[in-house]
Amino acid sequence: MTTDDDARVPPLRAGVIGLGWAGQQHVAAYAGTPGVDLVALAAQEEHLLAEYGEAHQVPIRTTDWRELLDADLDVLSIATPTFLHAPMTISALQSGIHVLCEKPMAEHAEAAERMVRAAEQAGRVLDVAFNHRQRGEVQALKQVIDSGVLGRIYYAKTGWLRRAGIPGLGTWFTKNERAGGGALMDIGVHMLDMTLHLMGEPEVITASAATHAEFGPLGRGGSGFGVSELEEGTPFEVEDLATAFLRLDGGATLLLESSWAQWIPYDQCYVMLYGSEGGASIEWGGTGRDPYERLNVWTEVSGVPAELAPHVGPHGRHAAAVTGFLAKVRSGAHQQYTGRDALHRARVLDACYASAGTGTEVRLGSAVPATAAASRTSTIQETP
Ligand SMILES: NC(=O)c1ccc[n+]([C@@H]2O[C@H](COP(=O)([O-])OP(=O)(O)OC[C@H]3O[C@@H](n4cnc5c(N)ncnc54)[C@H](O)[C@@H]3O)[C@@H](O)[C@H]2O)c1
Repeated sequence: MTTDDDARVPPLRAGVIGLGWAGQQHVAAYAGTPGVDLVALAAQEEHLLAEYGEAHQVPIRTTDWRELLDADLDVLSIATPTFLHAPMTISALQSGIHVLCEKPMAEHAEAAERMVRAAEQAGRVLDVAFNHRQRGEVQALKQVIDSGVLGRIYYAKTGWLRRAGIPGLGTWFTKNERAGGGALMDIGVHMLDMTLHLMGEPEVITASAATHAEFGPLGRGGSGFGVSELEEGTPFEVEDLATAFLRLDGGATLLLESSWAQWIPYDQCYVMLYGSEGGASIEWGGTGRDPYERLNVWTEVSGVPAELAPHVGPHGRHAAAVTGFLAKVRSGAHQQYTGRDALHRARVLDACYASAGTGTEVRLGSAVPATAAASRTSTIQETP
């Protein structure tokens, strides 16, 4: 429904680069949002340009993403392989376009830093699509935490473990310089983001991590994710399991694990928070036939130990990530939204990979080499 106010605000002209699974979510979100005209798509697959272009009557469809820089866009989503996030984002920001970039922000923190600097210099919004933050459980628990129910959170455990979910075996996803890393970069970053968000954005001070590659090098543990047809035959160069122990400012600690493939019964995701006045747990996973989603809080009510099951609203997913981005653009307070939280996540990942490579605890902000990617699989085995 269009209101009088909507009618006075000109629609935002939107574009999307990349039409894999992620890009398709952005296309659907823009197409379903009032006050937005989806006017441009770029990808390398002609058939996807035709399919999504026709479905949403998008006038500009191109295999050359640079054409979008001259398409008078207000906002642009970038959903391409990770190593392309920085060059595409920086070019768009310098062309005066607000950018919503897919996670992970970049293949290493040095590239992420350049993105933030470009947003600051251009006075444009740079946002990163951490869509799992929009889950109903996360939204509900954040409200509970902000009202003080858990007190001071001093310990957290979080993880995403897949039974068999390596994306794009043989494509850019498993090539180090293109993806920047494996399971930690791809899905661990979602759990890191959610947990730091729930904890109120503490600074991570040090990381001690290890990486393993036990499935990918043997061609095991693949999945239907990452349908890109562009780079078949790429060797498996990244980790399929990572584990990390993080020290946070104020003395809290965080355990993070992520795995693309594992000898476990089913996929498992969790965030457990331990506070001075209460604890909380978000869990989801299971099989397609037997899925589960739970949010529980343990505390005291009037001095009596109590378990709460807060009401959980609908999951926001990519549509909510896009709505949040558009609200930042419309707020006019662009200098507040230049991707700094996402840059912090990129620095944590760099420190984890540097720690895994050296076998030592690494302090964030110490000279973590951009080439830490070279050590992103400390126990990788040769492809037979
Ligand atoms: N937020 C999430 O839940 C989520 C889920 C999946 C993927 N992702 C992220 O989204 C990004 C893309 O992942 P995907 O699974 O969609 O990948 P994909 O390989 O399936 O698709 C990549 C798309 O980028 C396009 N592309 C590549 N090079 C291009 C170029 N030079 N010009 C124009 N288009 C180009 C390809 O044509 C393709 O359409 C990655 O960074 C990934 O980590 C996020």
